[in-house]
Amino acid sequence: MPGAATRGGVPARAANEFTRLHGHGPTGVWSAPGRVNLIGEHTDYNDGFVLPFALPYRIAVAAQARSDGLFAVTTVGDDGRPQRAEPVPVGALEPRGVTGWAAYPSGVSWVLRHQGFTSGADLVVVGDVPAGAGLSSSHALQCATALALLGLAGTEMDQPGAPSRAEVAAWVQRSENDFVGVPTGLLDQTASLCCVEACVLFLDVRSGEMEQVPFDAAAAGFDVLVIDTRARHSHGESGYRERRAGCERAAELLGVPALRDVEPPGLDEALTRLPEKLRPLVRHVVTENDRVRSTVGLLRDGRLAEIGELLNASHDSLRDDYRVSCLELDVAVDAARSAGAVGARMTGGGFGGSAIALVRQDDRRIVGDKVHAAFAERSLPAPGLFTAVPAAGAGRDI
Ligand code: GLA
Repeated sequence: MPGAATRGGVPARAANEFTRLHGHGPTGVWSAPGRVNLIGEHTDYNDGFVLPFALPYRIAVAAQARSDGLFAVTTVGDDGRPQRAEPVPVGALEPRGVTGWAAYPSGVSWVLRHQGFTSGADLVVVGDVPAGAGLSSSHALQCATALALLGLAGTEMDQPGAPSRAEVAAWVQRSENDFVGVPTGLLDQTASLCCVEACVLFLDVRSGEMEQVPFDAAAAGFDVLVIDTRARHSHGESGYRERRAGCERAAELLGVPALRDVEPPGLDEALTRLPEKLRPLVRHVVTENDRVRSTVGLLRDGRLAEIGELLNASHDSLRDDYRVSCLELDVAVDAARSAGAVGARMTGGGFGGSAIALVRQDDRRIVGDKVHAAFAERSLPAPGLFTAVPAAGAGRDI
């Protein structure tokens, strides 16, 4: 199976837990990865460009159809303790009707029912994507659930007659926007479903066009270090909504469908037509889209070592103009840069979560040490560090 080598033991664990809880094996196991975004932040809901890659950490869903039409999900934590959501008839699932973690898989069941894939199911969920780290564990759960429910209905990705991965990503986004009630863009679902090993995914959100751009940091002598700051600020969701609403208002005032339509040469003039409050948002989105295209250009030319400045500029723009960074992310980024990282930035929505740093392999240890020391100096909880290598997107494992 493509990419199965990078999936670790998570799918097998899901199958074992299913057997333990149900007394027999599942029909199949499907899994989906978390992601980091190399660059292109808060551009997806502005019809812009993003450049994520899939992490070698996954959520796996072991599943079997139920004949009574109930949708029953259990997650099993590292300690082996199951957490069961109240089983609900698939036909009774309605937007906002489920809260907490179970809203994510339930929303997927709801959206697939509207696409004609109705099935009661027993799902058992196991995963190793760090939760609450801004690495899209909830999207991995949604995407793995989507593939499992489609699989139970006899539809496997990439087979004749199956919906495209992009279509499934759009369904998952709808489930999150309408059922869970969070107005996120398309970045995370598309990354989880469409990324491939050893590449970053250059996605044009407006056209849906995708290019798999080879990204082998190690071959160029680099590591991508992920720094999970362990911070999760409670105003993250309202902050996201406000930024998104601000961008939509600015596009309306400028008379364009989305901020994607403002190009760098027209930026200064566009800014003069906006209230002061909206200008930094627009400046970020326009310059960030440009940075994504420049990054892709460098990677296509095999100039990976030169993307650091663009990563740095992205973070500075997110911190100063878009204002979605926070103390912990800035501490991580500043410490990594001052210890020799060629580029570092927050990744994902911000207000906590993770940063990434592009680090020469020889500097990996010193950068890690300096980041830890910077957190300790400020009495912040120790961050989690790991090296990320682009891994496979969602698929069937068993
Ligand atoms: C979150 C959202 C994405 C995207 C990023 C910011 O991860 O889920 O849709 O908007 O924030 O780039």
